[in-house]
Amino acid sequence: MENKHSHYIPALRFHWLTPFYDSLLKWGMREEFVKSRLIERAHIQPRQRVLDLGCGTGTLVIMIKQSSPEAHVTGLDGDEEVLSIARTKAKQANINIQLDHGLAYELPYPDDSFDVVVSSFVIHHLTSEDKLRAFKEVRRVLRADGWFHILDFGRPVDFLTRTQALVFRMFEQTADNFNGRIPFMLKEAGFDSVAEAKRVTNIFGPIWFYEAHKQKEGSL
Ligand SMILES: C[S@@+](CC[C@H](N)C(=O)[O-])C[C@H]1O[C@@H](n2cnc3c(N)ncnc32)[C@H](O)[C@@H]1O
Repeated sequence: MENKHSHYIPALRFHWLTPFYDSLLKWGMREEFVKSRLIERAHIQPRQRVLDLGCGTGTLVIMIKQSSPEAHVTGLDGDEEVLSIARTKAKQANINIQLDHGLAYELPYPDDSFDVVVSSFVIHHLTSEDKLRAFKEVRRVLRADGWFHILDFGRPVDFLTRTQALVFRMFEQTADNFNGRIPFMLKEAGFDSVAEAKRVTNIFGPIWFYEAHKQKEGSL
């Protein structure tokens, strides 16, 4: 599917690097720490329907299912190669999750399919236009009063992160993040309440936890 889209960026930019993805995340991105915080922030309730947008090799979807066994957990990614790693990991962990092939900006789900959508380190892979399309799609598949929790790069706050930002501002996909535009784009996509809830820093830059709410039915 991704071959039709010339700007599709796989997990580590080049397919031949995909086998090294899990090791890099584990040691370079404080993966377990940040993904555990994301899960805490999502407050997933029993039997809620949860989507991990751009689930990659499946670490976050598996962690979600382990921490909320009664939730219905789905992972979606546009790359069959990472999905096959995710399927193997889920099988090894004896975890029952749905793993779907699809694009973030053309979600293969009806309206109101999920109570919570999460996404980690995916948004900086999308062009500006595709970010906005993806945010609108997430809003469409969320139920009213549902939440979208994003973990991804964001605006720098100090000398170190401003220096890191110099590089990432050179690329369209990462510039939106490092220019602090994600909250504005979420608002533009129609979410009624958007926050930069928390920040940590790793070797690549400032990582923000973004939270976006789809308005309750009947509210303006
Ligand atoms: C850096 S990886 C993050 C994977 C995973 N969420 C994690 O935290 O480890 C980015 C993922 O986004 C996926 N991706 C990139 N563009 C996408 C798109 N347009 N639709 C769906 N998935 C996409 C890639 O295939 C890759 O698995």
